[in-house]
Amino acid sequence: MPESVVDTVTEVPVAVVGAGPAGLMLAHLLGRAGVEAVAVDLRTREEIAATHRAGILEAGAARDLVETGVSDRVLREGHEHEGTELRFGGRPHRIDFRALVGASVWLYPQTEVFVDLADARERDGGAVHFGVRDTEVLDVDTAAPRVRYTAADGTRHEIRARYVVGADGSRGTCRNLVPERLRTRYGTEYPFAWFGVLAQAPASAPELVYAHSAHGFALISRRTADVQRMYFQCDPHERTEDWSDERIWETLQARVAGEDGFRLVEGPVLERAVLRFRSFVQEPMRWGSLLLAGDAAHTVPPTGARGLNLALHDVKVLAAVLLRALGPEGEPALADYQPQALRRVWRAQHFSSWMTRLLHNTPDATPFDHHRQLGELDTLVNTRAGRTYLAEQYTGWPTP
Ligand code: PHB
Repeated sequence: MPESVVDTVTEVPVAVVGAGPAGLMLAHLLGRAGVEAVAVDLRTREEIAATHRAGILEAGAARDLVETGVSDRVLREGHEHEGTELRFGGRPHRIDFRALVGASVWLYPQTEVFVDLADARERDGGAVHFGVRDTEVLDVDTAAPRVRYTAADGTRHEIRARYVVGADGSRGTCRNLVPERLRTRYGTEYPFAWFGVLAQAPASAPELVYAHSAHGFALISRRTADVQRMYFQCDPHERTEDWSDERIWETLQARVAGEDGFRLVEGPVLERAVLRFRSFVQEPMRWGSLLLAGDAAHTVPPTGARGLNLALHDVKVLAAVLLRALGPEGEPALADYQPQALRRVWRAQHFSSWMTRLLHNTPDATPFDHHRQLGELDTLVNTRAGRTYLAEQYTGWPTP
């Protein structure tokens, strides 16, 4: 079938499919080095900015946003957290990141990271096409791959690149371009999901609270002075219509209740959603002229707050490798991407699934399982090695 005629053809070194944090940070890092990258996304800029995602940035990732000139807003509007609370048996247990491993994390929601990156691309004159449709990625098995798309105004365009980066997220299709016989997919599903709410109320605690109770898991996070983010473990098939504000608060309160009398400050629920998650990795992360980054290649459950950090780590490694590949070294430089990125991916896979199993109740758990889990939590918070392990994993690992 002959290809349809396009309205414009653009030639750039790198085309990026997906303009979330991973795609935009990659384009930003390449742009700073004088290499042009064009990004496209099916969603509009407003849609992405209105999507609530996780909120924790490793200190290194926050520093990268500032030092690479994206924005210093994280330092002004984000909140540095030097510890977190694990609650179980009705008692609080603080994990002091600063004292244990000399590190901290920043509460700065992914949405804000996206806003900063989109603004920075606009400021720097980087091309980002939001709200496109009918995206086609072609010829990634050659040295002249292309991305074709229909712009929001209905015109049809083609980007000719040397490399295409698939940063199209956990439901993206770029990873399907790696032929089935050459790819391996690893993953596991969980028998629970998170019910996420945004509530209009003052903060209930100074730091994040990860709570385990006989009723299940809950996470108390924050957003602004008067809007808070909270989650509780639910059945993956739960329907938001069945949850009144009253039922939501009753559920959350039961999961954090304890002998210290801790209670959440309640207020109107502004948004509610059931968030399903899984653990997933596809290898290879590179095939031909296609490279996968972030959730397009791997996703983790949100319990360990690793997802955004992993995506930002991928593109940091990838930007350096692409700059070498586009220079005198050429394509062989790409061989360094997967080993460097994947090491951290598997560490994060382990940590995220461990944190998830540590804190959630599995529907078919036996009394033995419950007591073993409490024994693990006790060991974790009451041994220095346990606390240090959690602090080290949660605050992230340095990039080699
Ligand atoms: C959030 O604030 O949305 C958040 C924080 C920590 C997590 C997951 C989500 O582990």
